[in-house]
Parts: sequence; C-alpha cells; structure tokens
Amino acid sequence: MFEKIDHVGIAVIDLDRALRLYRDQLGLELKDIEEVDEQKVKVAFVPVGESNLELLEPTDPSGPVGKFIAKKGEGFHHISFNVSDLEGKLEQLVEQGVELIDHVPRYGAGGAKIAFLHPRSTGGVLIELCEH
Ligand code: CO
Repeated sequence: MFEKIDHVGIAVIDLDRALRLYRDQLGLELKDIEEVDEQKVKVAFVPVGESNLELLEPTDPSGPVGKFIAKKGEGFHHISFNVSDLEGKLEQLVEQGVELIDHVPRYGAGGAKIAFLHPRSTGGVLIELCEH
C-alpha cells in the first residue's frame, strides 16, 4: 500500500530563486540541500506537514531534470509515494502491466530507495515510489 505522499518533485532552474518563493515568501522551512551526482541534480527538501517539496535544480543539462526543463520548462516534475516494500510493489506493478523506468531500485536523495514508473503507463504523470 502507498502510505503517504512522500514528496512532490518540482524542477527549478535556480534553487536560490526558488527558495525566495518557497521559504521567504510562502514561509516554508528549508530542511536540507543535497547534491545527487547520479541524477545530476541539487535537491532542496522543504517539509510541508508529513510530506515534502523536493526542489530539483539540474547541475548538468544532460541529466534527466536538465533535459526535462529544456523540453517543458520549470514546474511540476514528479509525485512520490512512500511504500514499505519497494521491490515487492514493483513486482506487483509489472504483473499488472505497468511499465517501469526502474526495474531495480536506485538510491535517491536522503539515501532513500527509489524507482520511477513510466509516464506512458500513468497518463503522463511521472510517479516515483520510495522506501526510507
Ligand atoms: Co523524488
């Protein structure tokens, strides 16, 4: 089962500028900034109740978020659901005919295990599952 919305990923060109909105103007708190080399992003976590915003600034235009911004511009990137058994959930989804981007979980920000479902299978919404 999905336990909660873990975070909503938002692609931004400039993290400092994004923080002027989310932290300074909207009054949210910045928890952490982390660089994830594998994904070529700098990630800022901004808690909102039990969930977070995950602000993603590309560190390299050839990475997935860099390419996303080049194609679609800044804005909503993905939604992440928290699961307790990621491998089991992925197996189940494959059986149900859902197309995956990651058949094997990888490690994302904060050391979480993550996997993406393919937007072809999800009506264009990039869905991430994550296990902490
Ligand atoms: Co994410």
